[in-house]
Amino acid sequence: MENKKPKIILTGDRPTGSLHLGHYVGSLRKRVELQNTGKFDQFVMIADLQALTDNADNPEKIRQNILEVMLDYLAVGLEPDKTTFFVQSHIPALYELPMYYSNLVTMSRLERNPTIKSEIKMRNFERNLPVGFMTYPISQAADITAFKAKYVPVGEDQLPMLEQAREIVNSFNRIYKCDILVEPEAVLPDNASCNRLVGTDGNTKMSKSLGNCIYLAEEPEDIKKKVMSMFTDPNHLRVEDPGQVEGNPVFIYLDAFSKPEYFAEFLPEYSGMDELKEHYTRGGLGDVKVKKFLNNVLQAELAPIRERRKMWEQKLPDVYDILKAGSKKARETAGKTLEDVRRSMKIDYFDNDNLLKM
Ligand code: TRP
Repeated sequence: MENKKPKIILTGDRPTGSLHLGHYVGSLRKRVELQNTGKFDQFVMIADLQALTDNADNPEKIRQNILEVMLDYLAVGLEPDKTTFFVQSHIPALYELPMYYSNLVTMSRLERNPTIKSEIKMRNFERNLPVGFMTYPISQAADITAFKAKYVPVGEDQLPMLEQAREIVNSFNRIYKCDILVEPEAVLPDNASCNRLVGTDGNTKMSKSLGNCIYLAEEPEDIKKKVMSMFTDPNHLRVEDPGQVEGNPVFIYLDAFSKPEYFAEFLPEYSGMDELKEHYTRGGLGDVKVKKFLNNVLQAELAPIRERRKMWEQKLPDVYDILKAGSKKARETAGKTLEDVRRSMKIDYFDNDNLLKM
């Protein structure tokens, strides 16, 4: 018989700051799209425990960003009656499962994780890294498998986490001779420039500490200021000079955000990205003109998001209730998987009298 149950989606974000354009094109936009197909059961998690793995001394920062991230979720068009929002720390299964899973993962396997490697480097942890940080890929596997999620909309940087999760699923199902855990797969953004949106300064990572982000809640004048001072091709000095579009932040952003209708509205003298890039490469197209176009595009994209955010900001108690209700639902869902896991491992001693059958 065909399985009519909707496929499950799970994803989440660390609440270490407000969400920015990188989050938007990397995953948020895809979540809204998937939500609106009506074909999935979608869970979106605020990963406060994962955020604490390198912020143990600053829980207040995480706390302050819980509702900020919730507002960003609602602002982009995720809807409480279509998506379940929850807080990671409210779901006990998410810290019980890693206890079982961590026995299925070797130290050398954790050390090979490229995302962890680069994060360790970025934070200058060297050997002083928190154990909780080192093992967060196991915790992330718990996040995903606790909901039996098939699809995980994330940016490319999360692929090693998905691979780790699949390995845990396969080991678990094999060792405990069951098929209760579901192998998840990533859902990446549609085009490559969205996978890792560079910072406005051209740095490969958009990050709050580098001050090179454009936030979803950014005011129009600030968007404009940031766009007009964006890094471009440093060798494109005069308008007549040939310019380079590869690696040029302004073009990377345009690849991620521009749509044919934006050309019709803001830059009708060009048929689309190909023609714009061709002109820039050939020479004769100034950075200011391209930046003005990008500014118009971003203003058009962000205006409805900012409006929706302002609307929800007026109703913070409702936002709080949405998260609370979602967390309760998520707790029940994950609790069921936990029971399956304990039963498969035969450590459900007091749910039956098997222990007496010696
Ligand atoms: N690691 C993700 C990030 O840094 C956040 C996250 C935690 C997550 N648990 C997850 C993403 C489960 C997808 C699925 O953004």
